[in-house]
Amino acid sequence: MTDTDRAQRLERVMARHGYSGDSLIEVLHSAQSLYGYLSPKLLALVATKLKLPPSRVVGVATFYHLFALAPKAPHQAMVCMGTACHTAGAPELARVFHDYFPDWQVKVGRCVGCCGLAPMVICDGKPQIRLTPEKLIRQVEDLLQP
Ligand code: FES
Repeated sequence: MTDTDRAQRLERVMARHGYSGDSLIEVLHSAQSLYGYLSPKLLALVATKLKLPPSRVVGVATFYHLFALAPKAPHQAMVCMGTACHTAGAPELARVFHDYFPDWQVKVGRCVGCCGLAPMVICDGKPQIRLTPEKLIRQVEDLLQP
């Protein structure tokens, strides 16, 4: 898909919502789906088209962690830092990525709702449960196998 196609699709999404500021989250979601992430230029465009202050658009985009403000890395992980996972060793799991898999984009998140399986990490969309640092290293290496 070309940039022109993406721009036309985003324009249609905004038009479908009547360029209403109330559609901001849906428009940002569509923009991210089309472009992969929300660049400053894209956020400014959305603010202009929806007639919203840029600070509001940036505020919403930075509040929800599902929105990406930079291009995504080829591999991503979300380390749950909810209370159960944190007390079960999640901080050590986050360090595994820093020490062994520095090319992974790692985020920390709040409880994902399966505390009985703590500590857990979501690697490229796949939940990895009841982890130790050694188990996480093995599972990430398995995920990276072709
Ligand atoms: S604290 Fe991690 S799943 Fe609940």
